[in-house]
Parts: sequence; structure tokens; C-alpha cells
Amino acid sequence: MCGIVGAVAQRNITPVLVEGLKRLEYRGYDSCGVALHVDGKLQRSRSTSRVVDLESQIGDASLQGFTGIAHTRWATHGAPVSHNAHPHFSPNDEAARIALVHNGIIENHDELRDELRALGYVFTSQTDTEVICHLVDHMYNGDLFDTVQQAVKRLHGAYAIAVFCREEPHRVVAARQGSPLIVGLGEGENFVASDAMALAGTTNQIIYLEEGDVVDLQLARAWIVDADGRAVTREVKTVHAHTGAAELGPYRHYMQKEIFEQPRVIGDTLEGVTGITPDLFGEGAAEVFKKVDRVLILACGTSYYSGMTAKYWIESVAKVQCNVEIASEYRYRDSVPHPNTLVVTISQSGETADTLAALKHARSLGMLHTLTICNVSTSAMVRECALAYITRAGVEVGVASTKAFTTQLAALFLLTLTLAQVNDKLSPDAEAEFLKEMRHLPVAIAAVLALEPQIMAWADDFARKENALFLGRGMHYPIALEGALKLKEISYIHAEAYPAGELKHGPLALVTEEMPVVTIAPNDALLEKLKSNMQEVRARGGQLYVFADVDSRITSGEGLHVIRLPEHYGLLSPILHVVALQLLAYHTALARGTDVDKPRNLAKSVTVE
Ligand code: G6P
Repeated sequence: MCGIVGAVAQRNITPVLVEGLKRLEYRGYDSCGVALHVDGKLQRSRSTSRVVDLESQIGDASLQGFTGIAHTRWATHGAPVSHNAHPHFSPNDEAARIALVHNGIIENHDELRDELRALGYVFTSQTDTEVICHLVDHMYNGDLFDTVQQAVKRLHGAYAIAVFCREEPHRVVAARQGSPLIVGLGEGENFVASDAMALAGTTNQIIYLEEGDVVDLQLARAWIVDADGRAVTREVKTVHAHTGAAELGPYRHYMQKEIFEQPRVIGDTLEGVTGITPDLFGEGAAEVFKKVDRVLILACGTSYYSGMTAKYWIESVAKVQCNVEIASEYRYRDSVPHPNTLVVTISQSGETADTLAALKHARSLGMLHTLTICNVSTSAMVRECALAYITRAGVEVGVASTKAFTTQLAALFLLTLTLAQVNDKLSPDAEAEFLKEMRHLPVAIAAVLALEPQIMAWADDFARKENALFLGRGMHYPIALEGALKLKEISYIHAEAYPAGELKHGPLALVTEEMPVVTIAPNDALLEKLKSNMQEVRARGGQLYVFADVDSRITSGEGLHVIRLPEHYGLLSPILHVVALQLLAYHTALARGTDVDKPRNLAKSVTVE
């Protein structure tokens, strides 16, 4: 999703801007651009290709400057074409006075566009961003900082913007409301960016702007005012941001690498866990866990499915009521709040706009006990929640989440055990046994990864299909959902998941010889029921692809393909089964030749609603 970098310096800033864009590439984008102040004029370069192409374009044009802004765009308003790419100019010609980049969505853009058109502004893009750019130009009063403070009052919606002006060569002004933005402080130079990672290697002195903040960046100052125009001091943090995408090593794609990293990152996520204690979730967790009598999980995408899995664990082991809600639904629906709720957000990035908004919504309803399971310790989600468990998946580059999911599950299982302990539902023996199983997870996952050759053989069949069904029961139903999501995201095969018991209530009508039906069949109490569902599929000619456990008595036969997972893993079984489904999606996509790490239309970090 959109990324912003901006700089004011006394050196050519182009390499910092381009490097920043490269570090933001992981979010997903479809065009990119840079604008610089060059000899009293605004100049820019934009591309609908990758940042490396933009870099050579900039090199060919010898574009250099001391002040500039840059952007990666993930299209919302208007197609991903060059004239919609940021930075936008106003006026949009040689005489450009204002340059602006934006992340977010301006909801009143139609109204503002009409107003600006009536004033004679000519629009050359379909974006809501161009509206802000012309608005700033229209309101410009000789002081860009003051102008932007006035202009943002006219905007409804979410934005992070960075803007500079021909008349004020050593100044970049930036503002945020609903979209992330940070300030990076240097020696006689200052920066702004969507996240600290974009500035890794340039500065680690970071200020996280708060909602409504507007910042005036000059060579020797970064002056911040809040939404009411009052000067504010925000804490400067030393942030050791990851230096971006790790090397691919022997892997073809980041997704493949990330799937194979899972034994290690699960180990990292559990490192230091010597026993179950509320302290794992931060200071004050013990009191909070004692007060709460129910859990509300809020998340999006893959993180939502980890929440769904946790519901089965929390209700069965801790005996605590647990609801799981899709953040974008929860934030807008009327719900019945309960003050003794532990609100748990789950997020890989910690910046997902809907999840952040759902968290704020829950708080506004009086639910103040908040905890996040998050992969980025410096993210807005961690800053907003009172308690946190940081998963240690490391930087996840593949848009389709893999290792973030399994580390979330590991963290959520720890939460389950902790809630169980607080509620006297966890005997010391059970605690020791569960912890032993958790510590063995890296080995158990490695054994699932060793099934890759068998899964590759299935992937060849799947690559020729256009539809697939995934079935699971109980806590493996969310895993079926995640398997279907992985397949559709990266191979573009239409895939749906159902709780196997629902098969006869609709999806069975789709089953023909052309329909592969992936079944997650661990050797648990529901296995016999599941076998009946499988019969229903076979009786209609459907092709079954079954992930069974080592000890389940299901054998391959006509139309029935079976891969056995090496161990039956009880409550933690979803963590193993999902790894097999990740490999199936990956190899199917590979066989279809799609862009596995950057699937079409999708973004890694979804910072707009
Ligand atoms: C996007 C990503 C998914 C992710 C979802 C939620 O859709 O492509 O992989 O699950 O956002 O993101 P979060 O960072 O909040 O987990």
C-alpha cells in the first residue's frame, strides 16, 4: 500500500528517497515517483514499473536536489497509470508551485474537486490526491506550514501527506490523520516517511507523529503542532528498524523462504518463555487478566484466521468466552460492549487501518483492556495497546502471509494457556506438557516441510484447475479458510473453504470430477464425521486431496489422494496443517507462473480502510 518518503538536506537527496522507496516496496504498489526542488523549479519522475526502473529513469535525467518527496502508490482512486502516480503538482505544468504525495483516502474529494474546478484548477488525474494538491496551492499564503494546517481542516477521511513548495526550497511539510507517518531526525537534515524502516541506514532517531499532527521540516528543525495548532513535543525514539528485505539465499521467492523459516521463527517467538505467566504480555497484564471475563479478537485477512483458530483454544482450554470479529465490520456495526472484555488485536504489520480503527471503536465503547499480538514492535498497534506480545517472525516480504500467521498462532496459544492459568484451568502438569509440545514445534514443522516433494506432485494437478474447495472441521476450519485464501491470493484459482458439515447445505452442488476438494483430516474426535463428508464428495466424483495424520486410517485410492503429516499434534495441529497448505498454494502458483511475492492487486500493509 502507499508509501511516503520526504527529505530536506544540504546534499543530493535522491539516493535516500529511492532507497526509502525500495524499503517500502514490501507493502505492495503499482506505480512510484519522486519530485525534487531543482534550480528554483519542481521536477519529477514517475513510473508504473518497479522502483529500480524509476531509479534508472532518475539517473538518465540526472535528477538531483536537496529537498524532495517520493511515493509508492497502490491504486484506489484511478487506474495505476503514470498520470495518476504521485507526486502530484499544482499547477500541473512547468510552472508547478506545489508538489504533494498522499497515503489514505479523502472522502470529500468530489465536493472539493467541484469547488477547485470552479476556481479554474485543471485536473489531470482521477486521484483524490490531486484535490489536496490544488487545495494547498489555492490556499497558499506564503507560509507552507501555516497553509497545510489550514488546508487539512478541509479534508474528511484518512491521510498522511508530504508536501513542498517552489517558493520555500528548504522546507517539507507533512501531516497525518488516520494513516501512519514518522519523522526522522538527522544532523542538519530531516526526513519524513511512512515507517522507520524506510529510513534505516539514514537515521534511527524517530518521532511517531500522532493523529492530527502537522510537522514543519527544515534543515535544522522539525517543529510539530497538533490538530489544534498547538506546538507539541513528541518523544524521539531510537529505533533499530530492520534493514529491509533479507537476502533470498537459495530460495526462488520470499514466500518460499518465509515458509521454510517457520521452524526458526516459531523458536524465536517462544524464546525466553520458561513458564506460563501473565508477564509475558507486559507490565500490568496480571491485573488485567484477572479482571476480564471474555475476549474480543479484532483482525483482518490472515490475522483474522489466526484469531478464529484461537477462539477454539480459548473457549476449550481457558473456558473463557471469545468472539472474533473482522475489523472492518466491527468498527461500523452496533455491538453490545462489555467493560470486562480483553480486546485483542492481531496484526502482522501493526498498521492495518481497519484493525486500528476497530481498536479505537472498542475503546470508545468503554472496553479499555487492550492487548495486541503483533510482529512490528514499533508499530501504531503496539503503541495504541496497553499490552503486547511481539511475534518474532522477522520481516515478512511475501504479500501472502505465512510465517507471521504461525507465529501469531504460537503467541495465541500462550495467551490461551495464560488465561487458563489465571482462571485455574491449567494444572502444573498440563502446563509442562503444553510447553513441551510448543518447544517441539520447530522439529514438527520441519517434518511437514519435508513433505514438499509430495505436495509438489499435487500442485501440478491443481495448477490446471480453476476452482477448489477446502474442508475442515473444528479448529481446522479456520485453517481450511487460510489454505483457500493462500491459494486464491497467489495462484488466482477460485478457492472456497467450508466447515465440512456444511458441505451438504450448498457447496456439494459444485462438486464434479473437475473439483479438487482439499480436506484437512487430523486424527481427532471429528475424524469419523469428516470421513462421512469425504464419502459425500467421492459419491459425486469429486477428487479428494486429504492431509491426514500419520495414524489416521485413510488410504489413497481412486479419486482419493492422501498425504500423511508425520505427527498427530493435538491442539497445536493447526500450526502443522497450515504449513502443508502454504506449500500447496506456493507450488500451485509457481506452476501457473504468477508473481508469487507480489500478487496482482494486493498489498502487504493495508493502511487505508
Ligand atoms: C493484507 C495482507 C495479509 C494480511 C492482512 C492483515 O491483506 O496481504 O497478508 O493478513 O493485510 O494485515 P495485518 O498486518 O494486520 O496482519
